[in-house]
Amino acid sequence: MLCSDLLAQADRRQQSAGKAQSPRQDSGVEVVAKPLKVCIVGSGNWGSVVSKIIGSNVKNMKKFAPTVKMWVFEEVVSGRKLTDIINSDHENVKYLPGHRLPENVVATPSLSQAVQDADLLVFASPHQFVRTICDEIADIVPKTALGLSLIKGIDEGPEGLKLVSDIIREKVDIDVSVLMGANIASEVAAEQFCETTIGSKVLQNGLLFKELLQTPKFRVTVVEDSDTVELCGALKNIVAMGVGFCDGFCCGDSTKATVIRLGLKEMIAFGRTFCKGQVSTATFLESCGVADLVSSCYGGRNRKVAEAFARTGKTIEELEKEMLNGQKLQGPHTSAQVYRILRKKGLLDKFPLFTVVYQICHEGRAVAEMIPCLQNHPEHR
Ligand SMILES: NC(=O)c1ccc[n+]([C@@H]2O[C@H](COP(=O)([O-])OP(=O)(O)OC[C@H]3O[C@@H](n4cnc5c(N)ncnc54)[C@H](O)[C@@H]3O)[C@@H](O)[C@H]2O)c1
Repeated sequence: MLCSDLLAQADRRQQSAGKAQSPRQDSGVEVVAKPLKVCIVGSGNWGSVVSKIIGSNVKNMKKFAPTVKMWVFEEVVSGRKLTDIINSDHENVKYLPGHRLPENVVATPSLSQAVQDADLLVFASPHQFVRTICDEIADIVPKTALGLSLIKGIDEGPEGLKLVSDIIREKVDIDVSVLMGANIASEVAAEQFCETTIGSKVLQNGLLFKELLQTPKFRVTVVEDSDTVELCGALKNIVAMGVGFCDGFCCGDSTKATVIRLGLKEMIAFGRTFCKGQVSTATFLESCGVADLVSSCYGGRNRKVAEAFARTGKTIEELEKEMLNGQKLQGPHTSAQVYRILRKKGLLDKFPLFTVVYQICHEGRAVAEMIPCLQNHPEHR
């Protein structure tokens, strides 16, 4: 489905508004249909930040309906339902405390009610819940809707790699773009300047999502190499775990830089081996690539928990509970998916960094084994 089809029943209000837009990254859509209804599926740390951006942007654009629905996995916080707190206090006190959400962001605990009339669906749940969510909404989402996945993670299918966007496409039967970048939620919420990348197989759809999400402090570039954008978002979390392990036994910045470089090489090689479509090196130079890798290896929860794992000897599960207050860790899960995909193809020795991170997280291999793994990396042979 193209956004031009979505916008077919134009009411022409936008034309008279005469908005100036950049020619290169302009969707070219000046004519507006019924305002497009947006639903955010998920309300964790990142989903809440994105609701802040979208809620504020739609107020100024007639192309989008003024109310933004946000599906909230209901839980009770200090004796009150989280949806009630969000709708009356306009703050997600559990996942984004200290930031006011716009009043036009309306939280709902019913997934089916949230998505039933949506034109644009922004998927922002942790990736372990995406299959269940898609099963529940598959017959409810309008077939003309467009999706945008913010979910960083991958899955395994019969042919090897399965992207989260593939799962949404297959189950919900809509076009899906992705948004990935060097975007640590707390920093974006504080309106610190950053960039992000939208990958879209249908450029026009990516440009529509750019209009929905771009702000002066959150700059969006759209590329068509969508699978690579998505893969970068997932794989960098494995590298960030590797850097966290190094921090745990007090490696210096030079060693960390080595992990980042070798990690990037493995990300590119993994993309070239497993992506069905073209994998452009240029995509790794977008915000979704090097920038997200660097920000996750210095900030971010995967690095932080991996460091604590190396220092304390507690399990990943214990640390996730202790340190993240309900937030989910993506790196260990993604490393397990990647490990299975590589093992099936007999390629573990070509990806020693990904492999050692998996073995440290899941098989009790010593954290100090990171160093011999780097020393014997095929890059140096
Ligand atoms: N936080 C960031 O800085 C950031 C930045 C960019 C992208 N992302 C990506 O966004 C996605 C969402 O991450 P997040 O940080 O917003 O989430 P989070 O880890 O902060 O929150 C966990 C969410 O999972 C929900 N949940 C718990 N149990 C559930 C269940 N059984 N079914 C459905 N939902 C359940 C919780 O209600 C909560 O909304 C991830 O893929 C992440 O990689 C995060």
